[in-house]
Amino acid sequence: MKKIVIAIDGWSSCGKSTLAKQLAKELGYLYVDSGAMYRAITLYFLRNHVDWTDKKEVKKALKEIVLEFIYNDNTQSGEIFMNGENVEYVIRDLVIAEKVSEIAAIKEIREFAVAQQQKLGAKKGIIMDGRDIGTVVFPKAELKIFMTADNAVRVERRFKELYEKNPNVSIEEVKDNLEMRDYIDSHREVSPLKKAKDAIILDNTHLTEKEQLQQALEWVKARLLNTRSATDFLRSV
Ligand code: DC
Repeated sequence: MKKIVIAIDGWSSCGKSTLAKQLAKELGYLYVDSGAMYRAITLYFLRNHVDWTDKKEVKKALKEIVLEFIYNDNTQSGEIFMNGENVEYVIRDLVIAEKVSEIAAIKEIREFAVAQQQKLGAKKGIIMDGRDIGTVVFPKAELKIFMTADNAVRVERRFKELYEKNPNVSIEEVKDNLEMRDYIDSHREVSPLKKAKDAIILDNTHLTEKEQLQQALEWVKARLLNTRSATDFLRSV
């Protein structure tokens, strides 16, 4: 069966990774969380006191960073490793979220991450979520989904997620962080968050996870029928 590339973009905390992981499981595709790469780079910069306003320091630091996604059988999903360390969980902290958009706006950092993302997608059969996947990373992706949800719903979802790990977190902090990240992500000069012209909008404010998955699977089916070679099609009838 022919494999396609699925690009999922959208605002912070609107369930992109939830949908992407479920789709990957259903289709047997690779899932890549591109935001995790920017978060891991942010972690490295904070830990090593890299001055990201200094291009020379940024370039030097990037040479020291090796990022990998390694599949975890227990969670049934890829987890990000930075220089051999599993940083999948530590990068979800609000301390990282407060700086990541600023760091992800730097041209050299985007070039570093995008080159690796494109390599991962070279063989297709991949689902990647982020902010510029349908516009910059995979402009020819066969299926592009642009996700959105009401602000209040997104804040509530992210608050619940963070509160489980840290009961000291406040809903105001989470709301401010989401608004700030959405603003920076959609206003930066290099590859800002925007809907690709050929992306389908998925507003999940009133959808359950199951409903959104079903909807996305229908879009995948339609794309597979359109992109299958004539021989593949004849084999299946
Ligand atoms: O998806 P996320 O919240 O984990 O992403 C963290 C940040 O990384 C987000 O605020 C913007 C940035 N990002 C980006 O600029 N481009 C991507 N493709 C993915 C994330």
